[in-house]
Amino acid sequence: MTRTLEKRSGLPGSNGNGRRPEPTGFLSAYPGYRGTALLDRLRATEYCYLDAGGHVYLDYTGAGLPARAQLAAHAERLRGGCFGNPHSENPASAASTELIERTRLAVLAHFNAPPEEYAAIFTPNATGACRLVGEAYPFGPRTRLVLTYDNHNSVNGIREFAASRGAITQYVPFSSPELRIDDDAIRQALARPAPGPLGAAWRVARSGMAPWAGRGSRARPQRPLAGEGVRNADRPLAALPAAAAPRRRGLLAYPAQSNFSGVQHPLRWIQTAHEHGYDVLLDAAAYVPSNRLDLSVVKPDFVPVSWYKVSGYPTGVGCLVARREALGRLRRPWFAGGSVYIASVQAGWHVPAADEARFEDGTVSFGQIPDLESGLSWVNGIGIDLIHRRVMCLTGWLIDLLAALRHGNGQPMARIYGPASTRDRGGTVAFNLLDPGGCVVDERAVARDTAAAGISIRTGCFCNPGAVEGAFGLTKADWRRALRGPARTMDQYIGLLGLPSAGALRASVGLASDVDDVERFLAFLEMTYRDRVIGTGGLAPRRGC
Ligand SMILES: Cc1ncc(COP(=O)(O)O)c(C=O)c1O
Repeated sequence: MTRTLEKRSGLPGSNGNGRRPEPTGFLSAYPGYRGTALLDRLRATEYCYLDAGGHVYLDYTGAGLPARAQLAAHAERLRGGCFGNPHSENPASAASTELIERTRLAVLAHFNAPPEEYAAIFTPNATGACRLVGEAYPFGPRTRLVLTYDNHNSVNGIREFAASRGAITQYVPFSSPELRIDDDAIRQALARPAPGPLGAAWRVARSGMAPWAGRGSRARPQRPLAGEGVRNADRPLAALPAAAAPRRRGLLAYPAQSNFSGVQHPLRWIQTAHEHGYDVLLDAAAYVPSNRLDLSVVKPDFVPVSWYKVSGYPTGVGCLVARREALGRLRRPWFAGGSVYIASVQAGWHVPAADEARFEDGTVSFGQIPDLESGLSWVNGIGIDLIHRRVMCLTGWLIDLLAALRHGNGQPMARIYGPASTRDRGGTVAFNLLDPGGCVVDERAVARDTAAAGISIRTGCFCNPGAVEGAFGLTKADWRRALRGPARTMDQYIGLLGLPSAGALRASVGLASDVDDVERFLAFLEMTYRDRVIGTGGLAPRRGC
């Protein structure tokens, strides 16, 4: 697919999509945009459905968009072959297995991850990858889970696994109004001593779990048979360590890029955490669609990814990219078809599969996983660095325009959360609109109005409650008060917390965005909200965060 990219994009140099020319000041502020004209041409050909449908799509942190070429590759592959369940040895099964294994290697190559060091495990999405780690990580009364405030709920949820096994969870709060976190705060959290036996016993009592829970029948030794060549899909024997890897003090989990503020946290924390004896889960879901992650340079232990965010298609395919050594520390709480090498009903005994299959429950999505290979080939044909450059130019322009929006009385029309520049951030911009009196415009009204105008943005808390709490300055005391109150519904909680809305608005740019999308969006905001007070009458109750 890569070789046909230039052909698909039309004549070199022609824009050809009838989009408006770059606005005054844009190219002088962001000259790097000039070098990304290939994406204008692809917008006109491969992503032509956007303009045909009159879409202004600004939700790339929600999902990427597919190129027509990817969909054609899918149809061509299915028309030209016979693909069966990969759990057999028959020809149709072997055809599926071959494509799945090829895709596994393509994933590792995409991240420049040495296959002898990293494994790519297919999951339904990033959430599935987080759950795999959470449920199998050897949490115990003497281990700790350290989380940054701005984790996605799919990472926050790991704390429930930790708590159920008596481990402490510590959150590291923001250190600045930009919603960043200092290196020192991370170091201090990692340096805290593991709780002693007394502390552990107290915590276990509070969590209602016996100290030995999680070490008994639920966690039987999971070792391959001695001398057995436990083999799945031609992976080298002993691809995963058979013996338990050394225990760590705990797990640090943080997003490489916040899906709320766009902040990109330092990847150097990975090394810091390793030096403190911690494993690292680097949530890369929002980062990798427009940033290079090179796993030959940085060495996180667990990397959850949702591929639809990168290439738009296929959906339903994610990965846990993990260091093989760290996988050796995980103890799965169950087994399933596909993830077990041998099992006995009468002996109540099983041996897990020894390679990636050990973490892939049931039948993987064999009709879709090979589409990821073409998706990655598409993205890499364009070049992740080119996409990054485009995204950063558009992000800068979006922030510039939002920050400059003013009501007739001179009051700002927008309050931006997170960094106000393009330094160490990605293409996700969270903000609220303000009325001429400085009050937040209800996010439901903006959702209603943008939808009617064919504009796709995200509204609400984006599954990132800690970032919202940081952005709105909520404290523990606020929560204590609210949780003592009589609230039952989302709107009642918001009232008790004294929040002006249930979160923010999020505009995010990506591979197929152009500057006209940004201009149209800003023109819409100005036209719809300048000098106006928007009532909340007729807005439906909030159904959830
Ligand atoms: C940073 C981050 N992590 C995790 C997720 C969860 O991804 P999924 O819903 O695809 O599992 C998302 C989704 O938006 C995200 O942005």
